[in-house]
Amino acid sequence: MTRQVYISGKLVPEAEAKISIFDSAIMLADTMTESTRTFRHKPFKLEQHIERLYQSLKLTRIDPQMSAAQMLRTTLDVFEANLDNYREHADCWIVHNISRGIAIAGADPTVQVGAPTVMIFTQLMDLKPWARFYTDGCHGVTPMSRMVPSQSLDPRIKNRSRLPYTLAEMEAKLVDPAAQSIILDLDGHVAENKGGNIFCVSKGVLKTPTTVNCLAGISRATALELAKKLGIPTEETVLLPYDLATADEVFFTSTPYCIMPSTKFNTLPVGDGKVGPITRRLLAAWSELVGMDIVAQAQAQVN
Ligand SMILES: Cc1ncc(COP(=O)(O)O)c(C=O)c1O
Repeated sequence: MTRQVYISGKLVPEAEAKISIFDSAIMLADTMTESTRTFRHKPFKLEQHIERLYQSLKLTRIDPQMSAAQMLRTTLDVFEANLDNYREHADCWIVHNISRGIAIAGADPTVQVGAPTVMIFTQLMDLKPWARFYTDGCHGVTPMSRMVPSQSLDPRIKNRSRLPYTLAEMEAKLVDPAAQSIILDLDGHVAENKGGNIFCVSKGVLKTPTTVNCLAGISRATALELAKKLGIPTEETVLLPYDLATADEVFFTSTPYCIMPSTKFNTLPVGDGKVGPITRRLLAAWSELVGMDIVAQAQAQVN
């Protein structure tokens, strides 16, 4: 079945979804975004994603011209219209991109001159890039580029201006093609990955940076909730590269893979160089929460 996507009030076959070359998404990369995933064809924390989307829209003064409740209903309609495209054991992304709409070159960029461009689509969840990291762990590398400081752009505003993250990820991959970036802020504190949050475990305590320098990830919140349920002490704090290098365990969190263990940091082994027990317990608890084996699903895609 042809994928049906939503664009500004209409559900259309994907080939018919067009935006203007003058859209602020292109002229200014002025687009707020969310990426939600499904587990067993059920959207996970979609309400929280939409709540975060509306916070980003508020801060950037983009009027989506629909309420959060209407956005939720519309999103579910898009998802339901495409469900037949996803096999029983396959899950999908549900992606929102919302721009300020047509931008008039040279005019005041803060003025929304017309309707916003609201785009919603689903896409097969391809977990192959992360599958082997559940057992082997990935290599976290600190790139040369630093986070855009939160004084300039609050990292909690989830937007599509991705150049800083793209450059940072490239620099990490020049060190090791399989590396995942661990971006530092201007003070040298651990911030986040281009698409994920960072955690470490030291002496039984699960630690992650505060949201002063990173996105308030929904997976980050889930990992903290699960840790609390499992009685694992947690701390939102300042972390330096030293803390990751000397930690017992390191992992990333993000919507597609949930938890991605990291067994190497800037070429040094993390702990004993194997995926740690707290990381495995959290992954198991997450699988239990969503009623399916997250790791097995990813590994089945490569086997
Ligand atoms: C920069 C950045 N940090 C962290 C995350 C993780 O957020 P979430 O867990 O909500 O997917 C993302 C997700 O896209 C991101 O883009």
